[in-house]
Amino acid sequence: MKIFLDTADAAKIKKYAEMGMVDGVTTNPTLILKSGRRQEDVTKEICKMVDGPVSAEGNAEKAEDIVKEGEVFASWAKNIVVKVPMTPEGLKAVRVLSKKGIKTNVTLVFTSAQALLVAKAGATYVSPFVGRLDDIGEDGMALIEEIMRMYKNYGFKTQVIVASVRSSAHVVRAAAAGADIATVPVNIMDEMFTHKLTDAGIRKFHDDWEAAKKKA
Ligand code: E4P
Repeated sequence: MKIFLDTADAAKIKKYAEMGMVDGVTTNPTLILKSGRRQEDVTKEICKMVDGPVSAEGNAEKAEDIVKEGEVFASWAKNIVVKVPMTPEGLKAVRVLSKKGIKTNVTLVFTSAQALLVAKAGATYVSPFVGRLDDIGEDGMALIEEIMRMYKNYGFKTQVIVASVRSSAHVVRAAAAGADIATVPVNIMDEMFTHKLTDAGIRKFHDDWEAAKKKA
């Protein structure tokens, strides 16, 4: 399974890209706001650091405006993917952008019915939001499992990005369900590296190493 970073923090992306952990990046208006930078500047910088797809999200609602906005994003770098909202106008825009050779990521997907329409529209990626479903008492990962089964049944090419990830368990369940990608926030990426027994084991081995040196 590919791992994308769900952030617009260029320094954090650089850190994990240097470790070879970043297959792509997803951003959204909230993450751009958090970065405190202009969308164009930060997105162009991210596109240079990462070879894989970088999703950029705009604000347009009408299909023709989404297409115009998407063309501007696509002019920034070769690896741009245009995020499109899960609406009839969004899916109309997906068809037009696809014909122009521009990759799309349909965002804010919360049901299998929506995911089916996204695949039929020919989107490159679909982003079901598991965390936000969990937040309202539903089972986000069950949605991923159903979408994976559905896409497999018909050989749909649309790749599934598990989004709105809230824990390393979400990432593991995404991989177990056969999802193509999980887009992971930096705090969850940090969490994935650690376990208290790893830390305790490192400390103990370090102390014993020093003690053995003194004895020899
Ligand atoms: C990524 O494409 C989504 O915009 C992001 O994962 C949403 O995450 P959130 O629900 O934590 O805001």
